[in-house]
Amino acid sequence: MARPDPHSYADDAQPRTKTFEWKAVVDFSTQVLTAEVTLRFVAAAAGGVLDLDTRGLSIDGVHGPDGEPLSHVLHANDPILGARLEIAVPAGAEWIRIGYRTSPQASALQWVSPEQTLGKKHPYVFSQCQALHARSVVPCQDTPSIRQTFTASLDVPSHLRAVMGAASVGRDEKGARAVERFEMDQPIPPYLLAFAVGELASKDLSPRSRVWAEPAQVDAAAWELANVEDQLRAAEALFGPYDWERFDLLVMPPSFPYGGMENPRLTFLTPSLLTGDRSLVNVVAHELAHSWTGNLVTNANAEHFWLNEGFTVFAERRILEVLEGADIAALHAAIGYEKLKESFVVLAATPELTRLRTHLTGIDPDLAFSLVPYEKGYLFLKTLEAAAGAGPFDALLTKWLGAHRFGAATTEDFVALVENELPGLLAKVDAPAWLDGPLLPAGTWRPESARLRALEKVAGRAPTKDESKDWSAMEWHLYLEALPRPSPLAVCAELEASYALTQSKNPEVRVSFLVLACASGFAAALPSVKEVLGWTGRMKYLKPLYRALLKRAETAPLARELFARYEKQYHPIAQEVVRGLIEGS
Ligand code: BES
Ligand code: ZN
Repeated sequence: MARPDPHSYADDAQPRTKTFEWKAVVDFSTQVLTAEVTLRFVAAAAGGVLDLDTRGLSIDGVHGPDGEPLSHVLHANDPILGARLEIAVPAGAEWIRIGYRTSPQASALQWVSPEQTLGKKHPYVFSQCQALHARSVVPCQDTPSIRQTFTASLDVPSHLRAVMGAASVGRDEKGARAVERFEMDQPIPPYLLAFAVGELASKDLSPRSRVWAEPAQVDAAAWELANVEDQLRAAEALFGPYDWERFDLLVMPPSFPYGGMENPRLTFLTPSLLTGDRSLVNVVAHELAHSWTGNLVTNANAEHFWLNEGFTVFAERRILEVLEGADIAALHAAIGYEKLKESFVVLAATPELTRLRTHLTGIDPDLAFSLVPYEKGYLFLKTLEAAAGAGPFDALLTKWLGAHRFGAATTEDFVALVENELPGLLAKVDAPAWLDGPLLPAGTWRPESARLRALEKVAGRAPTKDESKDWSAMEWHLYLEALPRPSPLAVCAELEASYALTQSKNPEVRVSFLVLACASGFAAALPSVKEVLGWTGRMKYLKPLYRALLKRAETAPLARELFARYEKQYHPIAQEVVRGLIEGS
């Protein structure tokens, strides 16, 4: 017996799922999916135990190919892994079928009330399966090292639309219900299973891309995301053909807990990207980049998460460099560097979480989440690139993507490939310090550009109107990130009086200023803080704002009061993460 993933009960010695058929009835009144899944194995079972991952599921029955019920035990719930479903599989079985119901508290699902939608008329439900939440929707071998194809059919109210990270292959209406069918022929890790049901409309962006959103938002979304085909072409020129056929986008309700989620064929996006000036399309570049780094080559388990996110940040900034120029890519890298330094402060008590290769037995990846795998991973790759030269490093990337296409990889796989392709390179940059040491090693690559140098001149004080007249949202964001926390009240007051940053349409700028304001005791910003915490469920904004409020005695009660008020609006994952901050303060 071997369990190669510390976050899954999947066992190497047991039958391995190749494909599954999933049928679910979506009931908004009970907030339950009543479902059935058929798991088909790579090879007929030898006979013995199969362990599946589940979380909060009620099992109605398990059957084998002869229609016979199979004995099974649903073990006690582990707070991180969920409940092991142990099934006795007869020798020769090529598949098994499980009937089950999800819990109204399913950790992947948010059942959004009509009032929380734009249209206010219809409910909405969506999934967020990364990191360990697919198991709250489907009993499965929930480890990225077991890729699976699937078919799905969702039975939904006929006035609503279902979408999935899969090819849509038909919709049959019968009175008040409709059945929407999907197929996914490219094998995916379970964390990429994704669906949403709501009042949705779509608009084509290019022959292979359309955006879905609530009807009232679809035009704004199409405008904001108009350059998707340019992004696809730039990415293909850099990383090879796009393997997933379509690249559709779904603009989520505001409570979506992330900026974006790279669900294959259908990236999910926070509506906070719709700033009206296309200033946050780097998030699309990031999710698109995952089509190569992450979705094609997946981390074998969460301990190698930097292979997903570090490579993706690297790929994202390559795409931005092509489309917007090296100066803009350098601004993104500089913001990333500031955020990384903040992460080091937040993780001061757990420096082991600042390594690239982590040990996560007994640790929930959602609670260990930080920008370290993103930005330290990025800096490691840039440092390698600088030491190897751009040409050889590009060749290495191509090799990496080719070697693990539709596979799952570990840090050890990467080390082996680099040793083989560019001998001596790892030693030259002190790779062990990057991979297994805390914080940042000496000799780290740093971004440089004329715009960065201009910004450095304004450090620590409010800029004059003349200095800031050409600043983009990104320059504002970087300038604010680099200000000391706390900063003098006079600086906060002058910034607000001159530039009304609490009202910025760009949420990165707005939240960056609000966090600075909270950390500095600038009370005039609090109404805006309340507004943001009541409007968004994006953890990138919730976490620093709640943290900053909790840190000062005079605002800590407000953090608790706001969380009590808004908790139910947040996705279950965000509820847990923010509750952790409040309880730990
Ligand atoms: N895959 C991540 C989101 C994620 C990470 C979900 C871990 C669950 C667990 C996604 O690609 C991501 O990184 N989103 C970022 C985008 C940003 C880096 C441009 C986000 O949500 O802010
Ligand atoms: Zn990502």
